[in-house]
Amino acid sequence: MERIFIKETPDKIGEKVRVCGWVQTVRTHGKIMFFDLRDKTGIIQVVIIPNKDFFAKAKEIRSEWVVALEGTINQRPQNMVNDKIETGKIEMLAEGLEVFSSAKTLPFPIDGDGYEISEDNRLKYRYLDLRRTRLQKNLVMRHKVFNFIRNFFTNEGFVEVETPILTRSTPEGARDFLVPSRLQAGNFYALPQSPQQFKQLLMVAGLERYFQLPICFRDEDTRGNRQPEFTQLDFEMSFVEREDVMAINEKLLVALVKAVYPKKIIQEIPFPRLTYAEAMGKYQSDKPDLRKDKNNPDLLAFCWVIDFPFFEKTEEGGWTFTHNPFSAPAPEFRDDLLEKRNIPNIIAAQYDIALNGFEVGGGSIRNHQADALEAVFEIMGFSKQRIQENFGHMLEAFKYGAPPHGGTAWGMERLMMILENEPNIREVMAFPKTGDGRDLMLDCPAVIEEARLKELHIKIEVLKEPDKN
Ligand code: AMO
Repeated sequence: MERIFIKETPDKIGEKVRVCGWVQTVRTHGKIMFFDLRDKTGIIQVVIIPNKDFFAKAKEIRSEWVVALEGTINQRPQNMVNDKIETGKIEMLAEGLEVFSSAKTLPFPIDGDGYEISEDNRLKYRYLDLRRTRLQKNLVMRHKVFNFIRNFFTNEGFVEVETPILTRSTPEGARDFLVPSRLQAGNFYALPQSPQQFKQLLMVAGLERYFQLPICFRDEDTRGNRQPEFTQLDFEMSFVEREDVMAINEKLLVALVKAVYPKKIIQEIPFPRLTYAEAMGKYQSDKPDLRKDKNNPDLLAFCWVIDFPFFEKTEEGGWTFTHNPFSAPAPEFRDDLLEKRNIPNIIAAQYDIALNGFEVGGGSIRNHQADALEAVFEIMGFSKQRIQENFGHMLEAFKYGAPPHGGTAWGMERLMMILENEPNIREVMAFPKTGDGRDLMLDCPAVIEEARLKELHIKIEVLKEPDKN
């Protein structure tokens, strides 16, 4: 018999059906047994009466065994109706049982929210943790959001392009993860911190409108809203100014909330704008929380923060970029940039999207002229040779006809965390890492065999911590 999903069973009263899933609970009332059977669509109560030939087998069944049950869907007696679940008015009278697998006792319960369970345990057994309804819902909603975004950009004439994962180390504000090359002894790839350079090169290539939902890698200290690998919504457009890019961000966010989270309220549309100086002056934050009612879980207070300083002082007294070295300066600061004067006051054509106190996205109009890009790196103290080695390909590309362009990237986990009212981004990821960057399920990062290191031309010398005394 063909298997149906549990959510379809209320429409099958009087019919014989087959359902498959995990036995969530086993109860006995006198001689009768009740199972709550769970699949990805819901839970159904199954009644097993003693005169069936499979009754003895059914008595062995414990929580989380995986089974198929066949039987007739009946209306429940009035006094047994459960309004809390969608199948609460019906139950199945079992007429056949197939056991696919038994299950050990789970290391923790999966029927609650699970916030109280130690994170180490949850992450070690993530495949069990993910059985809980809350996390399944988060993954389903994440899929719906991603799907909405893909359709939106497709309708707006954007093309989804996948950019490489094995790339070159670039400065984006964090450390790179490095991958040793076997074929090029002593050389390393870097995993991308973002597809920034590729998306700009796609503009030089004439794509004009690109988007992607790329995984990005950053070797930084992990926090509640940071993971070493995370997903962005990344897009880039040619022949646009700041207003055009901000407008499409806003259009997408408003449409997305309306379609996928219709109960949520966006506090202010168009999104309010604050300059960096205003945000810091008024809220001491460049990602202010503008919610008028912080207790309302459905309130979304988006805002733009604009007019960021391009450069900030390094600890060594030099200059570094505040956001993105590929940003253009605001048009009125172009001459200052080219002449490398008035550096602390140069404003970047950068815009960030803050939501309820988190930075969920950011972007800029880019520097599409080689001389201006070179000036940025010179201000940061890069020698001509280092600029050439690291960014020669960008400077070269811009000499073959580069359109003015700009774009944005959102942190998808941060956005999903807020939309789902979760306390951290790990709750909206399938397989997150711990605070110290480990995967407890796979037990990695892990030691690599000597032979494989040799193949990679690598010799490991573990540097000891300096003596404390
Ligand atoms: P940026 O570095 O600001 O910009 O990153 C864009 C957004 O990505 C999210 N984010 C993170 N999320 C989880 N874990 C992390 N470790 C992490 N780091 C960043 C944030 C952030 O706003 N290439 C530029 C974008 C552009 O200019 O188009 C970039 O990557 O929500």
